[in-house]
Amino acid sequence: MTSATHLTHLLTLDSISPEEMENLFTQARLLKLARATASKSAQPLAGRTVALLFEKPSLRTRISFEVAARELGANSLYLSWQEVGLGQREAVKDAARVLGSYVHAIVIRTFSHALVEELAQWSPAPVINGLTDSHHPCQGLTDVFTIEEQLGGAAGKTLAYVGDGNNCAHSLAQAAAKAGMRVRIVTPKGYEPSPDAIASAQRDAALSGGSITLLHDPVEAVAGADAIYTDVWASMGQEHEAEARRAIFAPYQVNEALLSHAAPGVIVLHPLPAHRGEEITDEVIDGPHSRVIVQAENRLHVQKAILRAAVAARRQAALTA
Ligand code: CP
Repeated sequence: MTSATHLTHLLTLDSISPEEMENLFTQARLLKLARATASKSAQPLAGRTVALLFEKPSLRTRISFEVAARELGANSLYLSWQEVGLGQREAVKDAARVLGSYVHAIVIRTFSHALVEELAQWSPAPVINGLTDSHHPCQGLTDVFTIEEQLGGAAGKTLAYVGDGNNCAHSLAQAAAKAGMRVRIVTPKGYEPSPDAIASAQRDAALSGGSITLLHDPVEAVAGADAIYTDVWASMGQEHEAEARRAIFAPYQVNEALLSHAAPGVIVLHPLPAHRGEEITDEVIDGPHSRVIVQAENRLHVQKAILRAAVAARRQAALTA
């Protein structure tokens, strides 16, 4: 699906090889350094346009993509979900072919992963998944980029994901497996990640020397861990389950007591927004092990690399059409 610098669509992390992921990380590191040191940013995407089509609220994904596009010289267009009416006002394949003919990349956030697949099937512009119910690939890439940056590498390190086996868990496991991490995912019974996502991560882990282990005991999962990751217990669209989930997930809270079982230099990650006092305590999220703010900042740098690769793919496709 991708080459070193050409990325057609980014719907899940199934189709990205470990080498392609590391290429994106190399670009992201250079872009981060350039932003910190250069007085003026290069504008490789001047004259391009990136559309953002969001059905769910967002701070990080929306703003980091908008700023990424602008700093690379592109325009960003935030579209009204109601006005576009994807699949309602008109067929997805019609909207996809029209919108994809105007813009150079489409970032979409919605509930249904099948809808994003259909958009990508018809859009001539690369489609980037900004979160669906089953995958959050931009987050997963950023998470492993942050682990590499903060721990000086990821291969052979132990990552414990604590909580709900949700979209973030799927993309995190897939990215971490490509990086050769030992991934432990600990959930209450009945809240395990999807077998498909885990099977995909296990295929990558078998090649990278990493591993994927599913557990139910949080202390066993974090024992000696180099990184601990958690996310909200009820994702967007599951608000009606929030009260029931608070009781079920209470033993999985990332707090000082749980952290005491991890490696001394453990880092703590969370995609944000956090529900403080539920999946993570104030002491931990504000404490010395927390890397959640740099993790959120890194969305900007990683997504710049993604946008550059996507727009390069669009240009290549136009040249060869
Ligand atoms: N982590 C994340 O995707 O944040 P937003 O929902 O604010 O975009």
